[in-house]
Amino acid sequence: MTAQLTVVGAIDDLRRYVRARRAAGERIGLTPTMGALHAGHLSLVEAARRAADRVVVTIFVNPAQFGPNEDFTRYPRTLAADVEKLSRVAADLVFAPPVDEIYPPGFSTKVVLEGPAHADLEDRFRPTHFSGVATVVTKLLNQAQADVAVFGEKDYQQLLVIKRLARDLDIPTEILGAPTLREFDGLAMSSRNIYLAPEERERAKELHCALSEAARRIVNGDDIGAATHEARARLADAGYDVDYLEARHAETLAPVSSLDDGPIRLLVAAKLGATRLIDNIAVQS
Ligand code: PAJ
Repeated sequence: MTAQLTVVGAIDDLRRYVRARRAAGERIGLTPTMGALHAGHLSLVEAARRAADRVVVTIFVNPAQFGPNEDFTRYPRTLAADVEKLSRVAADLVFAPPVDEIYPPGFSTKVVLEGPAHADLEDRFRPTHFSGVATVVTKLLNQAQADVAVFGEKDYQQLLVIKRLARDLDIPTEILGAPTLREFDGLAMSSRNIYLAPEERERAKELHCALSEAARRIVNGDDIGAATHEARARLADAGYDVDYLEARHAETLAPVSSLDDGPIRLLVAAKLGATRLIDNIAVQS
């Protein structure tokens, strides 16, 4: 089965593939990832497949989106296992470039962002992160020239940044969001969950529980500030170091104070030991 799934590392090979499929009248879907694939990533591949005839999956651990003290060097790299997983879902091509294919010597351009990239959420704790994401995603979208690209709601602020970016820079690829896949106890699947010690993994489910409880309270008419405050306190009691837990407008990420302010999303980032987890949830009845 693996034999049918071609892995390329050169932009020219990616473009040649896309041109040939397009010439045959097919729509191309793109699923960008950093690898260490789990079922959440695979669900994006399936969503891309539903929206297109062929799916290209990119695997690239992008140095530009990691801060100086973050986990770039120890980020899991599992290409052979990833290709094996992708050969069992509806992927058609894997683009796994080396770093110098994406950032050749002399590379000196980056995408500068405003709007949802400056919502005082992830950007407060990872100030260079979204510029790194936006630069690589712009490049991947330009390289692949896909009809549609799928990104997860798991990284909700990232999804809004990328939607805005594609609109603002007139990138003709349609950006689709896909729901978060969770473990049996509600923990959002993440390549970083493997960093959790067994005892931390047990407490990790609290993150989704706290968000769900806050969302339920807000839907039932509780004060938003009180509900989010309580959720933060609950996580602190469970041993989390909470970076933020906020209720925001689901499309603009502007602060909200009542259900009348529009569709609401709760977003959280918190550390359990050395592992930083993020999650989010819609507030809806
Ligand atoms: P990565 O963390 O590998 O995630 C790749 C895609 O999978 C993202 O769109 C992310 O939101 C989605 N994803 C992660 N966990 C998920 C889950 N549990 N359910 C559904 N989707 C999930 O996000 C990145 O890589 C990078 O920033 C990238 C966009 C590839 C740019 O480098």
